[in-house]
Amino acid sequence: MTLVPEFQTSPGMRDILPPESARWQQFVHVFAQVSESAGYGQVISPLLEDLGVFQRIGDATDVVTKEMYDFVDKGGRHVALRPELTASVCRAFVQHRPLTPWKVWYTGSQFRYEKPQRGRYRQFDQVGIEVLGADDPYLDVEIIALGWAFFRALGLSKVTLLLNSLGEPADRARYVDALRAHFEANLIELSEASQQTLLKNPLRVLDSKRLEDAALIATAPRIAEYYSPEAAAHFAAVQAGLHALNIPFTVDAKLVRGLDYYRHTTFEYQGGTLESAQNALGGGGRYDGLVESLGGPATAGVGFALGLDRTLIACDDEGVFASPATDVDVFVVDTTGGLEALLLTNQLRAAGISADRAFENRSMKSQMKVADRSGATFAVIIGSNELDAGAVVVRPMRTGDTADSTLSGQSTIPRTELIEYLQKALS
Ligand code: HAM
Repeated sequence: MTLVPEFQTSPGMRDILPPESARWQQFVHVFAQVSESAGYGQVISPLLEDLGVFQRIGDATDVVTKEMYDFVDKGGRHVALRPELTASVCRAFVQHRPLTPWKVWYTGSQFRYEKPQRGRYRQFDQVGIEVLGADDPYLDVEIIALGWAFFRALGLSKVTLLLNSLGEPADRARYVDALRAHFEANLIELSEASQQTLLKNPLRVLDSKRLEDAALIATAPRIAEYYSPEAAAHFAAVQAGLHALNIPFTVDAKLVRGLDYYRHTTFEYQGGTLESAQNALGGGGRYDGLVESLGGPATAGVGFALGLDRTLIACDDEGVFASPATDVDVFVVDTTGGLEALLLTNQLRAAGISADRAFENRSMKSQMKVADRSGATFAVIIGSNELDAGAVVVRPMRTGDTADSTLSGQSTIPRTELIEYLQKALS
């Protein structure tokens, strides 16, 4: 009978173990390369902020009203674990007043008290970018294109792009009134759950996937009919920019997204394979106005965030972006007590050669077994004869299909020449 451990991860929270963790690291590395190639610098902000920072996301969103991990700390401050990073980045902008446009990228864990399922967790990771202080539709295109390039860099080919515009705040307000009137006039045709949503946020009714709501959503007024000339021009320029870059997209008038702060452009990247509710790999849009609501000057803002967890599921489903190899170059086998392995691994690592070893002074046979498992290219063996002679035996571990003579047989090498020998053989 296997014992169930007394402590396990909380629901919706996971340990990411090697080798999967190496894949996470590589994911962030690729995202950093894509962002930094476009002049974005990394912002690292706290996991915890004053609750008020996140309340500015809007009080009609579940993220704020139902899913926040908030508590009063020992100093009596009402704080929350961040559910997303856009509000934190805006808070940082107001606090530090950097030069604009401020172009930043980020990575890290977010916390939302949601019902856990595949692709939906209570602690999940995002990578994302935000730009503050530039109101230009081609900037919207730049960031959408960076996300697109990132998916391509991972090897994903089934991601699709949905695009919408929510217009200017006044357009959006008029549209929300029209939507509310439309749904209220036909209230009995709406599901119970959507009737509740209507009270808080009529836009979100458009998100309903319930069959009984479909007919009423299909006949609902369209946001495009409410755009001001400026909003229409902004949206047209975004579409023209995407066409110019050959990025395929579908305009989806129902794409309102879960957060309240969006104005003008909104977009979502969808995976090809996940279940529909968790199919959004990432999304974003413009949020002109969020900085002001956090006490800063009127500042344009645009950005997106991608879910690391969901994007990796999409990678698995498409069979791309496997865990990178984390094997060491050299495994040191020491049968003289272990001190030589301590010295040698230290020396090798200092010379830029990755090295591991066995502990607890095991037998030669058992150490060689571990060396085999380690995936190292070479075993470096020190027995008492080698120690006396000031030498080591270098044994290639992957002799399978190589024509390289250094990899085909074992050699005895003077200790003083070992580093040079290995550097050459590994290059
Ligand atoms: P969001 O749509 O709430 O947007 O989240 C972005 C992505 O984070 C989602 O598409 C999804 O991949 C991932 N995600 C969200 N919740 C979960 C969860 N419970 N489990 C796993 N993954 C999840 C934002 O967070 C905005 N801050 C994006 C943004 C940036 N807008 C402008 N700038």
